Amino acid sequence: METARVGVLFLVAPLVTLLLMDVSNAQIPGFVSLDCGGSENFTDDLGLRWSPDSDMMSGTVANISVANETSKQYSTLRYFPADNNKYCYTLGVISRTQYLIRASFLYGNFDSNNVYPKFDISLGPTHWATIVVSDANTVEMQELIFLATDPYISVCLSNATTGQPFISTLELRQLNGSLYLNQYENQFFLSVSARINFGSASDAPVRYPDDPFDRIWQSDSLRKANYLVDVAPGTEKISTNMPIDVSRDEMPPQKVMQTAVVGRNGSLTYRLNLDGFPGFGWAFSYFAEIENLTSHDSRKFRLILPDHNDLSKAVVNIQENAPGKYRLYEPGYYNITMPFVLSFKFEKTTDSTAGPLLNALEINKYLKKSDGSADGPLLAAVTSAYSTARWAKEGGDPCLPAPWSWVQCSSDLQPRITNINLSGKNLTGAIPVEFTKLGGLVELWLDNNSLSGSIPDFSGCPNLRIIHLENNHLTGDLPSSLANLQNLRELYIQNNLLSGKIPAGLIRKDLLLNYTGNGGLHKGNKGKNLGLIIGLPIGAAVILIAIIAAILLMPKGKKKFHKKEGKPPHRLPSLSDTAAEAAHCFALSEIEEATKNFEKKIGSGGFGVVYYGMLKDGTEIAVKILTNDSFQGKREFSNEVSLLSRIHHRNLVQFLGYCQEDGKNILVYEFMHNGTLKEHLYGPIARGRRLTWIQRLEIAGDAARGIEYLHTGCVPSVIHRDVKTSNILLDKNMRAKVSDFGLSKLSVDGASHVSSIVRGTVGYLDPEYYISQQLTDKSDVYSFGVILLELISGQEAISNENFGSNCRNIVQWSKLHIESGDIQGIIDPALRGYDIQSMWKIAEKALLCVQPHGIMRPSISEVLKEIQDAIAIEKGADALRDGSSDEISRHSAHSSINLGSLDLTPGDNYLSIDDSIAGPAAR
Ligand SMILES: *[C@@H]1O[C@H](CO)[C@@H](O)[C@H](O)[C@H]1NC(C)=O
Ligand SMILES: *[C@@H]1O[C@H](CO)[C@@H](O)[C@H](O)[C@H]1NC(C)=O
Repeated sequence: METARVGVLFLVAPLVTLLLMDVSNAQIPGFVSLDCGGSENFTDDLGLRWSPDSDMMSGTVANISVANETSKQYSTLRYFPADNNKYCYTLGVISRTQYLIRASFLYGNFDSNNVYPKFDISLGPTHWATIVVSDANTVEMQELIFLATDPYISVCLSNATTGQPFISTLELRQLNGSLYLNQYENQFFLSVSARINFGSASDAPVRYPDDPFDRIWQSDSLRKANYLVDVAPGTEKISTNMPIDVSRDEMPPQKVMQTAVVGRNGSLTYRLNLDGFPGFGWAFSYFAEIENLTSHDSRKFRLILPDHNDLSKAVVNIQENAPGKYRLYEPGYYNITMPFVLSFKFEKTTDSTAGPLLNALEINKYLKKSDGSADGPLLAAVTSAYSTARWAKEGGDPCLPAPWSWVQCSSDLQPRITNINLSGKNLTGAIPVEFTKLGGLVELWLDNNSLSGSIPDFSGCPNLRIIHLENNHLTGDLPSSLANLQNLRELYIQNNLLSGKIPAGLIRKDLLLNYTGNGGLHKGNKGKNLGLIIGLPIGAAVILIAIIAAILLMPKGKKKFHKKEGKPPHRLPSLSDTAAEAAHCFALSEIEEATKNFEKKIGSGGFGVVYYGMLKDGTEIAVKILTNDSFQGKREFSNEVSLLSRIHHRNLVQFLGYCQEDGKNILVYEFMHNGTLKEHLYGPIARGRRLTWIQRLEIAGDAARGIEYLHTGCVPSVIHRDVKTSNILLDKNMRAKVSDFGLSKLSVDGASHVSSIVRGTVGYLDPEYYISQQLTDKSDVYSFGVILLELISGQEAISNENFGSNCRNIVQWSKLHIESGDIQGIIDPALRGYDIQSMWKIAEKALLCVQPHGIMRPSISEVLKEIQDAIAIEKGADALRDGSSDEISRHSAHSSINLGSLDLTPGDNYLSIDDSIAGPAAR
């Protein structure tokens, strides 16, 4: 076809050839775009030239097909075994030049395994990122800006914890100015966290050819889970077609600077998640005046960052710093601490007439470079001499992040090479002299090769223990320096061409020396001396093992095995003194009648079975018969009665009385028509009528209020100790109440904790309480955090299947996702019509609740406040959705809550959120 065209356009042929060259052959200077697993060169719609990685990489190719990602480079990937090795791409670069490198990963369930892979990517010896796939159909991307120090770089995949490591694309872009130059660049890389184009009309990112360096500027209208939430009212997008001077350095492309947001009400606010943070970062903002301000107008504003009051002093004045219109001003910070969740605000100064403006923002995290193995350069010299051999092409650092297959390393921060195993690798020529300079070397295996020449001096390797040089073509004498190696225990040199006398120092009792098959080598007095040394090292090892075993077997913290005798057992109020007088006492006959002789069982758990009943006056009741064959049961009973009779709150299941007759311990509660939260999340009910997000929030709010009352409204305060979804009950109106104080205990007055036997439910149990046995109200907060995670995800607290292969626990699983910014990965797929902001708020609070240490967890009141904020957001979003404002509803399609479908009575009772927070003493 090309020939035909050239033929037809004969006269302009030179021009045509030139054009063809340009679009289809020439790589853009300084760009490398690898289509991993690809099979041919091609040019994509942007004009980027992709090449396959087949001649530079081992591994296996897989073809995938993902509906929403149809670019050719994402139709293939390359994957690697989940072993202890690393798999490296080596790319040529220009030393002392800055580059952007970008790796991307589209899982596409290539292994038909649906186990989302998790593995590490490194640049040379430096850990770059842990790749966590959380969606089979979404591209994960990582970018670094770095200063090349060598003529090549290695990008390595290793350390798969789930699935197999894989990669879809690898892109290298040479930078060309000084924007990213900084004083830290010799010790740090910049890991790209956010690069945002504000005011963009579309979701599409801006990149090449608009950006000559092919940086990807994400649109601020792309409000994905962790991105740009909490936008202030009055935020407006503006744009211009006028040219903007972006010719300096690597300024953002004109297309990015031609759009902006302005805060018409005087402020701009955003919240976004910064991958990799908290840490030190490089943060720059880009401004260009693109509105027609009159001469009376001014636009001055300040940056407000939590925990950075000092920064608010500086006033941004674009006019002053970039006089004239359409010029660029880029204030920023070369080294600023940033949190993971960044909330920032630009606020106009009081004397400014116009609100703040923002065109673009870039935030990168400093990533400390690893020095790599101290022996790296020595081994590089060896491998370059064998450049065609497979073992010499493993790439990257010999030790980090995983050692080459033929190397073992010490575990120091800057590791040293301890073992080299190149047995049977077709080595020729002399023994590489670099090996004799490896100060940490302990074992050297070079047997079964074709090495020639003489054995070098190994004095530089004082730790050498084992040397295997047998079955080579080595010639000459055995160097006497070998005898000086104090640690040498094994020297195998048989079947070589060695000659001369064995140095006297090598004829030792503790050295295993095999020198047979060397015609000319002799001991001087003839005779064999093999196999003597083994006793010593084994003896040492046995002693070491014994010591280790002793340490391991030694009981740690003896506390664990001893009762705390100092403290008298906590005194429980007995039936006779406190409880009985306050609580109503039912006759057994009354209860038998109400329950029709315990006809209808409605639940079991805790310390007994629960039956449905109806009193003569029509009151429906739940009757709990305690299993009273244990002392524990009795204690729980009296405990519960005394507590319950004194605790009243609209969000706690009401206690109506008790009965202790005929050897039976019975508790009577109000009947809760809609069962437990657990049933609504996971039971058969759940399948038919799912709780909406706002209902879940309301339930969480109710339960939090109940717990708040226990913690703050009772004197002494009460720790529930068994907060879980099956202990949150729902009434006719779907209002939630907390039930089952069977495990509750009065907290010791004034003390911050009570110690007692650990009880609770697996999956909800505060790990700190479990370890220390010190119970505080923060243990309830932990359990409540687990409930919040269940509400978000629709997943039970513990599952053998749902959280991937090596995670059974909702806390670990959610943490992984939320901390990597992927909230979407845990949201219950059954949920529709939620606002991502409220989801995000709850997720963040939930993670705080399940912090390992109680002291780091919020109080239940703080959690409650967050739930109320989330409800307010939902209601606001709902109003917006109803008013069909497309801007937000696009991201959380679907409508208001369908109260009708749940037989709710949406009366004031249900809809009032705030009326009961004022005072805990409700009823
Ligand atoms: C940034 O500043 C902190 C302390 O002010 C310092 O420890 C750190 O090394 C600096 N640079 C980087 C790249 O983190
Ligand atoms: C060594 O070289 C021979 C001949 O060139 C070849 O057949 C053999 O596969 C090589 N072995 C290794 C381990 O490279």
